[in-house]
Amino acid sequence: MGFEINFLGPKVKVENTFVLNTKLWTADDKLIMAPMHAITNYVFRNSFDKVFPEAIDKAITPFISLTHGNLTFNKRKYSDILIENNTSSFDIIPQVLGNDPKGIIDLCEISSQLGYREVNWNIGCPQDRIMNKDRGAGLLRDTDRIEKILSEVLDNIDINFSIKIRLGKSSKEDISRLIPIINQYPISNVIIHPRLAIDKYEKEVDLDSFEESAKLINKRIIYNGDIFSKEDFNKLKLRFPNINDWMIGRGLLFNPCLASEIKSINYIDKKERLLALHSELIREGVSLNKLKGCWSYFLFGLNWQEDKTKILFNCKTIEDFDKFVGDNIYD
Ligand SMILES: Cc1cc2nc3c(=O)[nH]c(=O)nc-3n(C[C@H](O)[C@H](O)[C@H](O)COP(=O)(O)O)c2cc1C
Repeated sequence: MGFEINFLGPKVKVENTFVLNTKLWTADDKLIMAPMHAITNYVFRNSFDKVFPEAIDKAITPFISLTHGNLTFNKRKYSDILIENNTSSFDIIPQVLGNDPKGIIDLCEISSQLGYREVNWNIGCPQDRIMNKDRGAGLLRDTDRIEKILSEVLDNIDINFSIKIRLGKSSKEDISRLIPIINQYPISNVIIHPRLAIDKYEKEVDLDSFEESAKLINKRIIYNGDIFSKEDFNKLKLRFPNINDWMIGRGLLFNPCLASEIKSINYIDKKERLLALHSELIREGVSLNKLKGCWSYFLFGLNWQEDKTKILFNCKTIEDFDKFVGDNIYD
């Protein structure tokens, strides 16, 4: 019975399932919606906040890439961060992906003019086509280059600047080299997804390395990775009581009630809430493709047979898709 907590010492031992079901979230803990390209855009964020008010405190936008076209302000490229499009109560942080200091500075300038207080730099994306161009986690093996970019960017912006990282591209030595650089520059916070980029989403999150890195970094740390249930959150909270910022990605899509559950707001009819989110996405103008993207995750919470899933994804219009969901959600 019982459990041990020691942030700096040996791993936590948790045997008390009662503790894992209680509310360990406190008002100091911020739940942050992870950026998920083509999914957690403003339509999703606005809809989510309407259906689950107060569940999420903050959101990082999916990355804005520096590679497509020039960066002069154009409404289409920046639609996700335009103030008029963002009606949620979340604290929203635009995210940039790229390795060109000038482009990053320009995006910071635009974000600052729009009224944002922070920009996040994605140096953790593990997609090969991005890493191969020395962007995202592809930069992690070249910490000298990261330092040069940071030095130039931080000298030329008037907005907080944070980073989102993994433990390394293919070796944890990357984060060991990066930590002294992080500590030396005025970075506002560091989001750590404790996996190597080459591992994508496979293998367990490396909590020992997260703990080790968090101890050595002199900035506010945001934990990110594999929070799929209230119990997962509670285990992490017990092991890392000094962490107050928790980013959740896929868990919010597998179970949109998750953030509320962590805060002990429980919904008796979770399918009704899922249907409400689905309807709100449609009301907010989601495209059929993006809706299908969301449902590729939402389906995990339902026990649909493969043939039913196939019919859903074969729907050719939003109306057909919506009708099929409405007719089948309670099966
Ligand atoms: C489909 C998809 C799109 C993603 N897009 C982004 C992105 O635009 N920027 C980013 O920093 N991370 C992105 N990520 C990574 C997530 O933000 C998050 O770090 C990752 O899913 C791990 O968190 P989780 O275990 O809570 O899902 C994406 C992940 C997925 C699965």
